[in-house]
Amino acid sequence: MFAKKSVRDIDVKGKKVLVRVDFNVPIKEGVVQDDTRVRAALPTINYLLEKGAAVILCSHLGRPKGTPDPKYTMKPVAEYLGKLMGKPVAFAEDCVGEPAEKAAATLKPGDVLVLENTRYHAGEEKNDLDLAKQMASLADVYVNDAFGSAHRAHSSTEGVARFLPAVAGFLMEKEIEYLGQAIDDPKRPFVAILGGAKVSDKIGVIKNLLAKADAILIGGGMANTFFKAQGYPIGDSLVEDEVLDLARELIAQGGTKLRLPVDAVIAEKMEEGVETKVVPVGPTPDGWRILDVGPQTIEAYGKVIAGAATVVWNGPMGVFEVPTFAKGTFEVAKALAASKCVSIVGGGDSASAIQKSGLADKITHISTGGGASLEMLEGIALPGVAALQDK
Ligand code: 3PG
Repeated sequence: MFAKKSVRDIDVKGKKVLVRVDFNVPIKEGVVQDDTRVRAALPTINYLLEKGAAVILCSHLGRPKGTPDPKYTMKPVAEYLGKLMGKPVAFAEDCVGEPAEKAAATLKPGDVLVLENTRYHAGEEKNDLDLAKQMASLADVYVNDAFGSAHRAHSSTEGVARFLPAVAGFLMEKEIEYLGQAIDDPKRPFVAILGGAKVSDKIGVIKNLLAKADAILIGGGMANTFFKAQGYPIGDSLVEDEVLDLARELIAQGGTKLRLPVDAVIAEKMEEGVETKVVPVGPTPDGWRILDVGPQTIEAYGKVIAGAATVVWNGPMGVFEVPTFAKGTFEVAKALAASKCVSIVGGGDSASAIQKSGLADKITHISTGGGASLEMLEGIALPGVAALQDK
């Protein structure tokens, strides 16, 4: 059960509500490329408006270096939101100071205002409390619906909660409930699928899940480091030599729970259409690289997924951006979609693989958080959630 207060627990009628959303979305030439995060915030925004609040939205976008940079303006997102909601959405050219104060002062119940990128201020990522206080001064209540940023203790995600009554939005609540339940009270067998390039990004996750899951299926570039740790020559594959000892420890600790690929797709170049070979895991010739899991691995992992009651998936099985090496990832997506299990997909690459495969509606929950969902899998408390009022 989610232990924090949510928008349902407060009265917002006639109030101004500052809502931290994660509108950190890909933008190309002023056009939003993926609106998943914008749509995911709508239930909270619409609920607050229906209850008679005025809504002030704030978010970061990209990583500007603490100073205004037109490349990272929130303006296209504000315009997109207006189109999506079919109503005018105001925009303030700063998240604090005169532009924000003036725009907030004129808001009436039912109005929506989007503030400029919070990371235009160097204080944001330092959790500067003066900046947080200025943001808080714009509103009567603070709602955090930015699950994707909840692992950041920044002024707009953590600091501001110290100055206003602070509660969770529906997206935050839903994300924490799904991921929290999967980790802390899963229906068993509980299987984790972990991929992606680096073991070093997921050491804490593997350790935490070894204690909680019934099986961990490893794929992606990170499997190479485990292969090398076991003494297999891996040719020119991507590897992290600095964590080989740790990989050996994880293999020893994991025993039969930790499953590694049994075959691989290899190629000399990571390019579409190049010659590939399927080889059993063992010596990979010099000049060749492991770029995807092989058919036997797909079959073996598919069986584990079919028999699972809960599956959490984070990270692709191969270089799925290149179609030649995408099969392992898409086959895992298919197996997950076909399984009767509670299926939870972490944000980032695995979420985009699920979307691309057209199977998103067969998945129980696709997280909007990349780093945030990983930290949850690691068992770390998220500062953006910890700062909210307890129920
Ligand atoms: C994300 O996209 O994972 C979040 O918006 C956080 O962004 P950040 O890694 O730049 O803090």
